Amino acid sequence: NHDNRPLAANLSACHASLTDADRPTYCCPPRRDADQIVVEFQLPEIAPSPLRVRRPAHLLDSDYVAKYEKAVAIMKSLPSDHPHSFLRQANNHCLYCTGSYNQVNSTSLFKIHRSWFFFPWHRAFLYFHERILGSSSATTHLLYRIGFYTRGAFNSTQREPGHLPPHVADLNYQREETGRKPEEQMAVNLAFMYHQMVSGARKAELFMGCKLTAGAEGGCDGPGTIEDAPHNTVHEWVGNGLNPEREYMGAFYTAARDPAFYAHHANIDRLWTVWRKIMDSAAPDFTESSWLDTSFTFYDENLRFVRIKVRDCLDPAKLGYAYENIDLPWLNARP
Ligand code: C2O
Repeated sequence: NHDNRPLAANLSACHASLTDADRPTYCCPPRRDADQIVVEFQLPEIAPSPLRVRRPAHLLDSDYVAKYEKAVAIMKSLPSDHPHSFLRQANNHCLYCTGSYNQVNSTSLFKIHRSWFFFPWHRAFLYFHERILGSSSATTHLLYRIGFYTRGAFNSTQREPGHLPPHVADLNYQREETGRKPEEQMAVNLAFMYHQMVSGARKAELFMGCKLTAGAEGGCDGPGTIEDAPHNTVHEWVGNGLNPEREYMGAFYTAARDPAFYAHHANIDRLWTVWRKIMDSAAPDFTESSWLDTSFTFYDENLRFVRIKVRDCLDPAKLGYAYENIDLPWLNARP
């Protein structure tokens, strides 16, 4: 009984949901989204130019960082019910990961993780987030990689103190310290990345995740290689181990309250573009309408409530951004 309808959130009934540890949580907006006029997202006919270039955190000049930090500070200063406020932005992630919405015409929850919606949902989320940042502070582009900035608005009090720089992250962190020396850990990380990006990801479903379709029957639970690690593992590695669910970063419902979330996810989004380049024609996009026409909703920089489809999230250039190229040392780390 396979249901091939695309998924969408039932916006008329946002409800309480559960954290990863099954504790109740609530991240619905104060005003019902159902009261908002939904605008259909449209890609510009001509790709925007110049592209917004997202730069790597470890190579940034202080001017770039200062502009970004100022934009985050503005978001944090907005009243918490404002759609552009930092908390509402974070809660938008909570909505779609803890199951605050049902799927339309269904009693099943709409959750985008651990499936083929992981990459496109987060791309759309970052896209609108970046546009909002840019509307308050000219030329703000996201940065990528887990820049652990502790300055001003970038700081979070909910990070694992034992993992702060200069500690080298264990990209396959299993909640145990390995005690490796930094050089050792880096070599292990490179070989691991080679597996997650290349040898373990030779098919779309392996990299992108399983084909979640509508209704309970369509439920699947199979993250792609990168979602599994380094995505999940870095979330857990950053979050404070003393908190019950390693909040903020270690728990879906709070992860996006740490500004590091956005750098982490920009990096994950970049890896999607890198994988497509490596795979070339061997990595066609899925062609099912149940993927392409599945939609998500976000507020844009003009406070319009926008519905965007997966098919609009496939090409960063059409969305007006790109990643600065850097070396890919893991590409030569075939074990
Ligand atoms: Cu939606 Cu990094 O999790």
